Amino acid sequence: MAIRRGHFKTRLGFILAAAGSAVGLGNVWKFPWLAGENGGAAFLVIYLVIAFTIGVSVMLAEFLIGRAAERNPVGAFVRLKGGAWPIIGYMGVAAAFIILSFYSVVGGWTIAYAVKTATGLLETPETSALGGLFAAFTADAVEPLVYHAVFMALTVGVVSRGVGAGIERACKVLMPVFFVLLVVLCIRSVTLPGAAAGLKFFLAPDFSKVTPGMVGAALGQVFFSLSLGMGAMITYGSYVSHKANLPGAALWVTSLDSVIAVLAGVLVLPAVFAFGLDPQAGPGLTFITLPAVFSRMPLGGLFGTLFFLLLFIAALTSAVSLLEVAVAYFVDEKGVGRIKATLTVGAVIYLLGIPSSLSLGVWRDVTVAGKGIFDLMDYVASNLLLPLGGIFIALFAGWVVYPRVIDEATGGGARPFRWAPLWKVMCRFVAPAAVAWILIAGL
Ligand code: PFF
Repeated sequence: MAIRRGHFKTRLGFILAAAGSAVGLGNVWKFPWLAGENGGAAFLVIYLVIAFTIGVSVMLAEFLIGRAAERNPVGAFVRLKGGAWPIIGYMGVAAAFIILSFYSVVGGWTIAYAVKTATGLLETPETSALGGLFAAFTADAVEPLVYHAVFMALTVGVVSRGVGAGIERACKVLMPVFFVLLVVLCIRSVTLPGAAAGLKFFLAPDFSKVTPGMVGAALGQVFFSLSLGMGAMITYGSYVSHKANLPGAALWVTSLDSVIAVLAGVLVLPAVFAFGLDPQAGPGLTFITLPAVFSRMPLGGLFGTLFFLLLFIAALTSAVSLLEVAVAYFVDEKGVGRIKATLTVGAVIYLLGIPSSLSLGVWRDVTVAGKGIFDLMDYVASNLLLPLGGIFIALFAGWVVYPRVIDEATGGGARPFRWAPLWKVMCRFVAPAAVAWILIAGL
């Protein structure tokens, strides 16, 4: 069997790669519109509570399982226990196909918007006109599919060469630039006239708005944003040195991801209110409000282009981890060559994404259970497959292989792991019960 066992060189490199997987469209594109649709600040609070209890615990479980097994998600469960457990790994591989199919469509939008911002989009600063342009662009039967192909081809290009030096080094430079730009844009957004209402909406919680559906949406978003429940973090964990402190890494990645989601909310939502848009505008929210912000600042064309380029890079580092899950499975378990596996899986995922893209235009009327295809893909993966995977990953770490993973966490007793008792209770009881309850209530 062809086993390619790379290793991250440093703990920082590993944290940045894991953060590169976590930080992506989920933070900047999805989080603001979900918060907008679900009551703003109350959603933010519930999101953060779930992220720092269930999210960080499941992430640590994934890291530890991955490092203990040094395998892809299916192979990891086979190696550590076998029986029916590898089903969780297969579910993860399926989720990778589904998520990347629509993720790549939106990734294509970021490239399109980098190009459009550079070439005159901002000459139409009216938000209604920008809304119309976005609707016309996404409804087109050809243009978004071309950008979807470009995004997918780039993802395939990176993964086929291995995640190693290129992408890791690029992340180290570009993620900090992205962060600084985000802060600058936040300042512009909150100083727009009329921004205060948006800040209040995002930062002053009204808990009467809490519904089971909203808690379910927050849970799904935690799993999506932290790349949990499908084995992406198992895969990355399998490349870490046995010396690295994984509990600390899980806390770092969760914190970085949350800070960036909050900043994206502070960027997008005040602008929504300042320009009199509806915060419930859905997936178009970010792509309509941000150009409006750029058009109202000096050098907006430059900042706008740079911003969409960096967002594209954030999306690419996440897409790479999604594709890596599926490719690692075929390489490790089926002995398929890396290039062949990457090209084939990439092509299949591209085709899977086409209906999602068309569902925003010509196939607008095709619905299943009241949802368009794009929303359905997102819902099935984020709100069903990932939380379900998370339940079993937590149970597996907490009950089935607990001594083994504790050994991994402490380096055989050499390092302290102070919140081990808490983590054990989270994995054994709290995370599975809470996620199961939220899942059932959400249905
Ligand atoms: N966490 C990514 C984001 O927030 O954009 C999306 C994602 C990547 C989900 C990898 C799942 C995954 F395995």
